[in-house]
Formats: sequence, C-alpha cells, structure tokens
Amino acid sequence: RVLRGRPLDLAGRRIVVSAGGTREAIDPVRFIGNRSSGLQGYALARTAVARGAEVTLVAANVTLPDPAGAKIVRVESTADLRDAVLEASAGADAVVMAAAVADFRPATRQGSKIKKTDGEPEPIRLAKNPDILAELGERRRAAGAARAGAEGSGVIVGFAAETDDVLANGQAKLARKGCDLLVVNQVGEGLAFGTPDNAATVLVAGGEPVEVPFGPKEDLADAVWDLVAARLS
Ligand code: CTP
Ligand code: CA
Repeated sequence: RVLRGRPLDLAGRRIVVSAGGTREAIDPVRFIGNRSSGLQGYALARTAVARGAEVTLVAANVTLPDPAGAKIVRVESTADLRDAVLEASAGADAVVMAAAVADFRPATRQGSKIKKTDGEPEPIRLAKNPDILAELGERRRAAGAARAGAEGSGVIVGFAAETDDVLANGQAKLARKGCDLLVVNQVGEGLAFGTPDNAATVLVAGGEPVEVPFGPKEDLADAVWDLVAARLS
C-alpha cells in the first residue's frame, strides 16, 4: 500500500499504539486469549510513522511483520501491556488502545502443567484485570487538575467492538473511560477480526460522530489520525 501523499501533520509527535490481544496464563502451556490479529493496530502504527510521528508500538502476541520506523515493545499478558503502555505514554501526545485486552485472568497461575485426572476437572477461577484505558483517563484527569499540558495530558483513543446497541454502548463507554475518541466496530458477519478491511464509527467527546465506510484498515487509521491531529493543533 502506498504510504506517500500523507500530510506530515504528526511530525514531532510522540505516539503510543497498542495492538494485538493479551494472553493470560492458566499454566505453563495454556492461556486464555482472544482473536485479535493486530492488523488494525499495525495499520495505525504504519500510518502514524508515515505522517511523521515517533511511534512506540506495544504488540501483544502479534505475528505480523514489524512496521518500519516504529519502536516495538512485545508483551504477552495484560499486566505486561499495562506496564509497557503506562511507561511509554508518559509525556506522549497520543495513546491509541487498539489492543484487545483480556478482561479477566485466571486467579492463580498453576506452576506446572495441569494433568488429566479420572474425575471432573477443577473450574478455573477468574480475577478481574486492570482497565488500562480507564487508568490513562484517570491519570490525565489527575494531571490536568495539577497543570494544563502536564505529563499524561495527550489525546486518548479507545477501541470497542460491540455486537448490540452499538452506538449507545459506545457513547456510554466513551464517557466511562474518559477518552477523547472511541472507535466503535460492529462485530459479527465476518467484520473486524483478522480481515484487512474494517468499518467503524468514531465517537468524539464533545463532537459529532464520524462514520468511516468499509475499507482498508489504513483508511480507518488515517481517519483516527485526522481527528487526533485536529485535537493536537
Ligand atoms: N481496555 C483496556 N483495559 C482493559 C479492557 C479494555 O485498556 N482491561 C481498552 C481496550 O484496549 C479498548 C477499550 O478499553 O480500547 C474498550 O475495550 P472493551 O473491551 O470494548 O471495553 P470494556 O470496558 O472491557 O467493556 P466490555 O464489558 O464491553 O468488554
Ligand atoms: Ca472488554
């Protein structure tokens, strides 16, 4: 895909993108995971580099080729992702959470492989994971209270895949997470996971939603960067 012809409107900006899906270990050989391929997050990283940004890509279990020009930090679990995103986002101009983050993890990780026994298996108890996007919003609110333009005051973008009441759920999520933009995908019917194309509605805090028609994930990425660049200028 041709990456020329893009505006260099993110030149000098430090941007963090998370991509892929986190894995939560059950034992040394098994995990709870999700179907995120990382394609959308990688498209965001590539297009941000093309628009001049300095990009840190936090990649959770992605097997795609590395985007040229981005710094890549590889992570596996939600705890790893949280550490990497919080560290990279200090002082960043924008953070885009495109990664599919596991909401739950096994409450205890077995140190050795769980073996089959004669009886029924033990249930796996789950514990809740931290909400990284909400934490970014809270940090920004705390920093903003102290000083405008303080560390952690960059643009915050979330992604949401919804199956029902897509816009209503999206608006509630945008408010709850305290982010500036929320990219809402409708999932199902072959949309979104593992495909090169996507369609979405970008919800904008304090503004009108922007519809992005079905097309390459780069197009959705560029639509996100258009909105981010407008917020930064
Ligand atoms: N997210 C996050 N940390 C989590 C869960 C989600 O940072 N523990 C981020 C995702 O990266 C995404 C956004 O929050 O950008 C929305 O994720 P989503 O799963 O749609 O939201 P949840 O609050 O987990 O709500 P739901 O119950 O619908 O899964
Ligand atoms: Ca979730």
